Amino acid sequence: MTGLDPEVFEAIRDLVYRRTGIAFDDRKRAFVASRVARRLAELDLEGPVEYLRHLRYADPEGSEFQTLVELLTTNETYFFREYDQLALFANHLLPELADRKREAGDRRLRLWSAACSTGDEAYTLAIILRACLDDFEDWRVEVLGTDIDRRVLSTARRATYGRRAVKDVPQPYLEAYFDRVDGGFRVRDEIRSLVRFEQLNLLDDPAMERIRGMDTTFCRNVLIYFDDAARRRVLSHFYDALHPGGYLFLGHSESVARISDAFEMQRVEGEIAYRKPLEKEEGVPAHRRRAAR
Ligand SMILES: C[S@@+](CC[C@H](N)C(=O)[O-])C[C@H]1O[C@@H](n2cnc3c(N)ncnc32)[C@H](O)[C@@H]1O
Repeated sequence: MTGLDPEVFEAIRDLVYRRTGIAFDDRKRAFVASRVARRLAELDLEGPVEYLRHLRYADPEGSEFQTLVELLTTNETYFFREYDQLALFANHLLPELADRKREAGDRRLRLWSAACSTGDEAYTLAIILRACLDDFEDWRVEVLGTDIDRRVLSTARRATYGRRAVKDVPQPYLEAYFDRVDGGFRVRDEIRSLVRFEQLNLLDDPAMERIRGMDTTFCRNVLIYFDDAARRRVLSHFYDALHPGGYLFLGHSESVARISDAFEMQRVEGEIAYRKPLEKEEGVPAHRRRAAR
């Protein structure tokens, strides 16, 4: 395995951090080195210094950087992950959201699986909406799944999964919303048609500013890889992307505490969701609100 000099490791680490928010500490040096070694062999480059030069000066479109990032991301995911949190959404928050929207005459529901990996979470949310909204036919439902990694997004679009990915899917849902195919389970078109996938870097400010009008955002098991500065930036975008009264879910080991006081914490039966206050600061420009947080 190719070693990485401290300077080369730090330079690659800084590049990755600045563009993606993923923060590698020194314990990850061997991991980064092994991924760089793979690219050196594939590109037929002499060593890490040449690779760093290649990244800096011979990659104007950022395609090599993208390839490196895809080797460095952790894509672990499965359907109905962190089940109790999904139950909080399905049993408590979704009915409240839906009631509020019915009263306002708004029949559109938009959910975002931010950093969706292979799509398991996005399809899980679509299944929950399909199964839990009694008057589903009266709604216009959309789930947006985004990730920085193009490889996982192509798996997401194929919508075919092995047994491990669906191990936590309740049996009735497995029967209702999946077809058995060679080598696994395929999400049925009825669910697929509710979900749209897009490549999106959570640290790409202009792209993030285009995402608006979400009723609930799930961003789970991603911010653990970021430092506080990057988390703050992403949370600020999530705040702006949500409708007032909308919810944000983070992973179990993640929290907005210390980072932002813009959200109200809702705790039900030990599970936590963050709510954008209903009527706060409307009309105040986003950059002023962000500065105040
Ligand atoms: C561990 S998976 C989490 C998947 C899913 N949310 C879950 O909880 O099961 C983390 C995902 O975050 C994505 N990711 C990491 N940094 C990102 C960034 N800056 N922008 C968008 N996605 C990112 C990775 O590509 C990976 O697919």
